[in-house]
Amino acid sequence: MKSGAAVTLVGIGDDGCASLSARAFNAITRAQVLAGGERHLGFFKQFSGERILLKNGISEAIERIVRLADEHNVCVLASGDPLFFGVGAMIIKRLGAEHVEVLPQPTAMQWAFARAGLKWEDASFVSVHGRSREGFLTRLRQARKLGIFTDEENSPPRLASLMLEHNQVQWRAWLCENLAGPDERVRHFSIPDLAKCDDVRPLNVLILERTEPAWRPPPVIPFIDEEQFAKRIPKKGLITKREVRLLSLAAMQIRPDSVVWDIGAGSGSVSIEAAMMAQEGRVYAIEVDPEGVDICIENLRHHAIDNVRVIAGRAPDALKDIETPDAVFIGGSKGSMEEILDVVIDKLCEGGRLVANAITLENASEIYSVLRRREIVPEVTLFQVSRAEPLARYMRYEALNPIQIFAATKAAVRSE
Ligand SMILES: C[S@@+](CC[C@H](N)C(=O)[O-])C[C@H]1O[C@@H](n2cnc3c(N)ncnc32)[C@H](O)[C@@H]1O
Repeated sequence: MKSGAAVTLVGIGDDGCASLSARAFNAITRAQVLAGGERHLGFFKQFSGERILLKNGISEAIERIVRLADEHNVCVLASGDPLFFGVGAMIIKRLGAEHVEVLPQPTAMQWAFARAGLKWEDASFVSVHGRSREGFLTRLRQARKLGIFTDEENSPPRLASLMLEHNQVQWRAWLCENLAGPDERVRHFSIPDLAKCDDVRPLNVLILERTEPAWRPPPVIPFIDEEQFAKRIPKKGLITKREVRLLSLAAMQIRPDSVVWDIGAGSGSVSIEAAMMAQEGRVYAIEVDPEGVDICIENLRHHAIDNVRVIAGRAPDALKDIETPDAVFIGGSKGSMEEILDVVIDKLCEGGRLVANAITLENASEIYSVLRRREIVPEVTLFQVSRAEPLARYMRYEALNPIQIFAATKAAVRSE
């Protein structure tokens, strides 16, 4: 045993004791306390010490493990590699790595790739096991090969149906069940066939691989053409132009896990590009116009983006119960700019970024005066783009509306 270790975390396969190394087996033999899921504890029916069931309310069980670890040999059983989407991280966070010895097995993910005969160093991994599948489609668009832990709620056929609805059919799927156990089964599906499959076992790993050999990941900076978005007709001009989106999103300093608010989302173009950049985070698209809300939803579907939550309502009232943002974009205010800014500045996290765009002088002066009243000195960019457009046999410039971009960082609140 590692010196100073109070708990041994033992990875175990679907074949139970047969999967254990001598080192893991010895640790279990020495154990006075054995913790694990029902299935894992079931492999050790003859164990006579204290058993701790890890089920719902796992933090209580971990507290008990911590208390007992002071004076007892404690073994925690977990499937596969306890540090790969497992309980390992929680236990180490609570006890410190110096007090935990980890004896891993190959993860079910590794078995799945081995059984499918696919290399896995180029794969991405997602777990929708016991958690929301929000963002699954957004992550899918960046992946060539994906290994997925599923559960009953987010089952492989449900994920395949979601993919079908969003026209994500250029994939082959491997459904790998009861891996490394006596009932192991590995099947190969198209997405439509997987959506129809009605005999999936609960213990499974799903692998998705793209079928188009020429597929390449999408550009890191989206810069999506206005033509790629449905817009309100006849108000075609309502969409934020892509050059303006580019500067605004850059000013928002979006990170992969950012929580973003897009106030006055309109067609959702800013939300969609923000969501592509914050694929592990999420975007709240706030829009008051019912037609705008519908168009925003249509665009999300068209771009297969599912980490945007559309909020049909008027800011600032609609902002009350949304989680703290890391970045906020204000593209529309319907005459309530001052009230919106006050709420946004209060709610934004420390170090968070605020970006407000103004086309009218009135909006610009309102933004500027609220920021000054709140003792914020903004970065301001006056920005006017001209695009070359064909005119008969020639190209000539066509000017887009000038726009002012106000950007600011929320300072840390000083404690007196
Ligand atoms: C919370 S994750 C834990 C993963 C584990 N740490 C590992 O490395 O394999 C649980 C997921 O693993 C899957 N899983 C665990 N054992 C499996 C097996 N033998 N065959 C297929 N899937 C398995 C479950 O279906 C579930 O989606």
